[in-house]
Amino acid sequence: MSELRTRDVVESDLPSILAIRNRSFGPLGVGGEDWWRRVSAETLGGRMLAVVDDGGVVLGAGRIRPYEQAWGGRHLPMGGVAGVYVEPSARGAGVATTLTRALVARMGELGDVVSCLFPTTATLYRRSGYEIGGTQPRTTYAAHLLRDLGAAGAGRGGADGAERLRTARPDDAQRLHDLARAAHARHTASGPMVPSVAAFRGMLERDELNAYVLGDGFVVYGLSDGAVTVEHLVATTPESAATLWGLVGSGSSAAPTVHTYLDPRDPVTLALGGLAATDVQQVPWMARVVDLVGAVAGRGFAPHTSVEASLVVDDSDMPANSGRWTLTLAGGRGTATRIDDAPTPRDGRGTEVGGPPTSTGRGEPLRVDARGLSALWCGWSVSRLRQAGLATGGDPGRDADGDAALDAVFASTPYINEYF
Ligand SMILES: CC(C)(COP(=O)(O)OP(=O)(O)OC[C@H]1O[C@@H](n2cnc3c(N)ncnc32)[C@H](O)[C@@H]1OP(=O)(O)O)[C@@H](O)C(=O)NCCC(=O)NCCS
Repeated sequence: MSELRTRDVVESDLPSILAIRNRSFGPLGVGGEDWWRRVSAETLGGRMLAVVDDGGVVLGAGRIRPYEQAWGGRHLPMGGVAGVYVEPSARGAGVATTLTRALVARMGELGDVVSCLFPTTATLYRRSGYEIGGTQPRTTYAAHLLRDLGAAGAGRGGADGAERLRTARPDDAQRLHDLARAAHARHTASGPMVPSVAAFRGMLERDELNAYVLGDGFVVYGLSDGAVTVEHLVATTPESAATLWGLVGSGSSAAPTVHTYLDPRDPVTLALGGLAATDVQQVPWMARVVDLVGAVAGRGFAPHTSVEASLVVDDSDMPANSGRWTLTLAGGRGTATRIDDAPTPRDGRGTEVGGPPTSTGRGEPLRVDARGLSALWCGWSVSRLRQAGLATGGDPGRDADGDAALDAVFASTPYINEYF
C-alpha cells in the first residue's frame, strides 16, 4: 500500500465517504440522509478527518462529535469518536490505526480533554490508548408499575405551586439543558452526556419524540412496537418524579413495556412498587484521557476526600500525558502536577522497551500506559488493572499513599446514556 496521510475532510469528500460508510454498514435507512447531513455539518471544518493514499484517494474517515460529559458531576469537553469506516479493499493495512491516532491528536488540539466511543472492535482502539470505560445500560420496567407511581403522586403538577405538566416546545431547549446539567451535578454523575441546547432544540423541532416539561423536570421518550423508550427523564422532587414516571406508564394498556437509557441507579428504583426486569442490555463503550492536566482540573471529585497520589504515565501518542505526576485532591477539585518526565521503561537487563508498562520496582509510583490511565480514569481499581496487566510498580498494599490513594481519586462507576 502507498503512504498514508491524514487531512481534514472537505464538503466534496462527503459522497465518497458516504459510499465507504454504505459499503461498511449497508444503505442508510429511513431518515438516514437527514442524519448524515446533520452529523456532517456538525463535524466538517476540523472534526472530520480522512486518510488518503499518495494519489489523494480517500481510504477511510472518522469524526469527532463535540459533546459535554459529566465526570464527578462536572462537565468536560468530550470528543465522541464515530463514523470510523475504511474502504473494504484497503482494510488490514493500518488505515484505521493511522486515523485513530490522528483523531486523538486532533482532540488534543481542539481542547477535548477526554474521548469516548462505541467500538465494533476493541483491539483497534486499545492501540490508541482507549480502554473499556463502562456500559450504556438499558433497564426495562413494566409500564403498569410506573403508572402506579403516578397514581400515588396524584395530580399533574410538580411540588406545590410548581408549573403544571405540559408538552415541551423548541424554546424550552435551554431549560432542558440546564435541568439535565443540574441533575448530573446533584448526583455527582460520571459518564452521562448532556445534549447541547441546539441538540435539544433540534430534537423538539423534529417532533419525533414525546417531550413534556414541568417546573423542575422533564421527560423525552419515544414509542414503537408496543414499547416506550425513555431517552431523558429529570426530576428534582418526589412529586415531579411521580408525575413524569406516571405519564410514561400511563399508556400501559397499549405499551406495556418501558425501556430506559438512564442512570442504572436512577432513584425510580427506590420508589417503584416492583422490580425492574432482570434482563438488562449493556452496550460497552471505551474512553481515553486526551489531556490529563485538563481532565483532572475539570473533573469533580468527592469534596470530603483529601488525597495525594503518585503515578507514572507512558503515553507515546499524547506525549504531554507522559511523565511522573502527583495527583492532588482537596475540596472537591483535583490537580495533576508533573514532577518530571517519565523514566524510560527498561527491561530486566536495562534495555529500553516500548509498549505496555514495565515494573519500576519498589519505591516507584504506579506505572500505566495510555490504556491503563484511561481505565483508571473510568474507576477500574488498581487491583483490577494489575490483574489485567495494565499497571505495574507502586505499592500493591492498601497503604494510604499506594493503590488505595489512586482508587480514592478516581472512584466512580461511569455509565453513558446516549448511543452515538
Ligand atoms: C474496523 C475497521 C475500521 C478497521 O480498519 P482497518 O484499516 O482494516 O484497521 P487496521 O488495519 O488499522 O487494523 C487495526 C486493528 O484493528 C483490528 N481489526 C480490524 N478489523 C477487525 C475485524 N474485522 N475484527 C476484529 N478486529 C479487527 C485488528 O486488531 C487490527 O490489527 P491487526 O491487523 O494487527 O490484527 C474496518 O474493518 C471497517 O471499516 N469496518 C467496518 C466499519 C466498522 O466496524 N467501523 C468501526 C466502527 S467503531
